[in-house]
Amino acid sequence: MVQPLFENIEANSLVGLETVASPALLVFDERIESNLQEMIRIAGSVDRLRPHCKTHKLAPIIEMEMDLGIRKHKCATLAEAEMLASCGVKEIFWAYPPVGPNIRRLQDFQERFPEVCIQVTADDSVLLKQLDEAAGERGRPIEVLLDLDPGLHRTGIAAGPEAEQLYQDLDRFPNLLAGGLHLYDGHNRHTDYGERLQAVKAGFDAAAEMADRLEQAGLPVPRIVAGGTGSFPCFAELEDPRLELSPGTTVFHDAGYTRAFPEMHFEPAAWLLTRVISRPSPTRMTLDLGHKACAADPPAGKRLHFPGLPDAAEVMQNEEHLVLEYEGADRFQIGDMLLCVPAHICPTTAVHQEVIVVRDGQVAERWPVNSRDRRITI
Ligand SMILES: Cc1ncc(COP(=O)(O)O)c(C=O)c1O
Repeated sequence: MVQPLFENIEANSLVGLETVASPALLVFDERIESNLQEMIRIAGSVDRLRPHCKTHKLAPIIEMEMDLGIRKHKCATLAEAEMLASCGVKEIFWAYPPVGPNIRRLQDFQERFPEVCIQVTADDSVLLKQLDEAAGERGRPIEVLLDLDPGLHRTGIAAGPEAEQLYQDLDRFPNLLAGGLHLYDGHNRHTDYGERLQAVKAGFDAAAEMADRLEQAGLPVPRIVAGGTGSFPCFAELEDPRLELSPGTTVFHDAGYTRAFPEMHFEPAAWLLTRVISRPSPTRMTLDLGHKACAADPPAGKRLHFPGLPDAAEVMQNEEHLVLEYEGADRFQIGDMLLCVPAHICPTTAVHQEVIVVRDGQVAERWPVNSRDRRITI
């Protein structure tokens, strides 16, 4: 028998769940709170944290983080930045290069929220020039972090002489502010913690050495924003005062990271509610949990984890259907509720209009997923 990754939550044990239409995303308040506490414990201080809000996209969670003293935040879209600013966050890092009309949107954001300090990333001299010109036209500087590539090869430039030159160019533009360095190392997923630590340290050392040389040449490097959840405990071991830690998934965790990082003690806090809609054969049951209700970036067959049915196989998923092959399928009736944890939570929150908050074992309230859309007002 396959071992479940974590303890199951019986849908029938939650008061009021029978009134919730499925599919739905449930978030467990006490677990969110304990995951945030664990994140702060690992970081050692709220001042070292810059959590990424792309995982949850929810204003109430930003408010929980602010109540815990977390002031600096990271986001992936301008809508997320607008959500953060609307919550009263003053330090926002939009970890993305604004191109095309997003430059004007960034500037509209600056004018709408003049009290907010917002930074963006760039890794290209043409973009720096465009940002400088745009900032000059509006008379408001734009702060930019140079995006370094620590080996993920998604965006960024490798630390080294070319990157140093680009940072010097950034510093010389009259309308840009050099805001430091950014590196995201989502490829550092070694299950063995020692191996992961070594890889994370190597990526950071290259960035820190470059930052040292820039500072010796008189340039400001106010921050190095680094990492996601996998590398978070590794970065937390490092002492550099410029370092800011930017995990996102820690707030909810998910089945993918529970499997990948066995040393972590975050609890799965976001679960999907689904119901049995058909039983096409004695060993097959179909649930109302299509790929319109969960992240479809893990390969088909590996998108969900049912701790209550660890032997079930996901054999087919369409827009509104999930078909499970399961020896014990005949135990279930049409309409029975089941809970499962997505393999990847961040794109899962994006496909839900609202989350159902469970507090103290009861369905307590609903929160709209504030920044799931591309645009709020700007
Ligand atoms: C640039 C950046 N920083 C931080 C994160 C957070 O990483 P994680 O989801 O592993 O916590 C992500 C996630 O995609 C990211 O793209």
